[in-house]
Amino acid sequence: MKKKLCVLGSINVDHIIRVPYFPKAGETLTGYDYQIAYGGKGANQAVAAARLGADVQFIGAIGEDQIGQAMKSAFEQDGIDTSPISIIPKQSTGLAMIQVADSGENSIVISAGANGELSSDLVAQHQSVIEQADMLLMQLESPLQAVELAAQIAKKSATKVVLNPAPAQPLPESLLSLLDMITPNETEAEILTGVKVTDERSAKQAAEKFHQVGIETVMITLGSKGVYVSQQIEDKIQGQIIAGFRVNAVDTTAAGDTFNGGVVTGLLEGKTLDESIRFAHAAAALSVTRMGAQTAIPTRQETDQFLLEKQQ
Ligand code: ATP
Ligand code: RIB
Repeated sequence: MKKKLCVLGSINVDHIIRVPYFPKAGETLTGYDYQIAYGGKGANQAVAAARLGADVQFIGAIGEDQIGQAMKSAFEQDGIDTSPISIIPKQSTGLAMIQVADSGENSIVISAGANGELSSDLVAQHQSVIEQADMLLMQLESPLQAVELAAQIAKKSATKVVLNPAPAQPLPESLLSLLDMITPNETEAEILTGVKVTDERSAKQAAEKFHQVGIETVMITLGSKGVYVSQQIEDKIQGQIIAGFRVNAVDTTAAGDTFNGGVVTGLLEGKTLDESIRFAHAAAALSVTRMGAQTAIPTRQETDQFLLEKQQ
């Protein structure tokens, strides 16, 4: 039987505009290619996992609006079980204003809306979803108390806990010590460990700090350079860089989300850590060649085909 993934996280409607460069304070700039797309770190990771083949249940929250309902329906089209998504009365669905520069980099401002009301009470209502899952995947666009409670429930029921600590913020050891796997990017790793990640040596130092609080698997994503992965088994630590794929990046929004969805899907299928990372790199590489968040996330078939072409 297929293993189950529970994703807990945010749902945002993304308002995306392309800009030649990021404007300075006080500057007015003309952008282009404005579009509305479905996003939110939780939703993107749930969609990535589902399109890549995982059995996904999604704990999240939308507002009392039409766009929230439309996104929920789209998740169902992707095969996600949306029954743990709550509608928050008198709230609007989360929103992100995203500028994408011609360099491919992005700059994001968020209004949490309903995501800010994903309370501990709501998590408790969906306790059985977490308990019955094999893995729980979370991020930090949801209230920290809810994230910590979900991790505690998971830990008690032997559900593996994976945290993508994005957007960056300091975290208490009470939460970090509940994690089986953490997947920060370089900025997030620095905020959580105090180590500036610039090369393999500093990535190793940052990973060791995570191991010291009891996290077994650390993946520090390095953008186009790939990922530094480190595993602690008993008192032995093994780490290495696994390079990503070279592609022509047009928009990196949700690259990290696609990577996270991909890596957990691989692990749940029984792939090794290295195989899961290669699979996730392929999916994330495809995502950066396209605009938007969920619009950019590839299917399993596209990802397998990409990997096949790279082997030739
Ligand atoms: P974002 O916030 O842009 O979604 P992130 O900062 O969380 O991303 P990154 O470290 O930038 O995460 O990237 C995550 C993964 O996405 C990388 O490990 C790699 O697999 C893939 N990736 C990112 N940028 C590129 C790129 N330019 N070319 C190929 N793959 C990329
Ligand atoms: O990680 C990308 C996501 O961050 C976007 O979809 C946006 O909604 C923000 O949450």
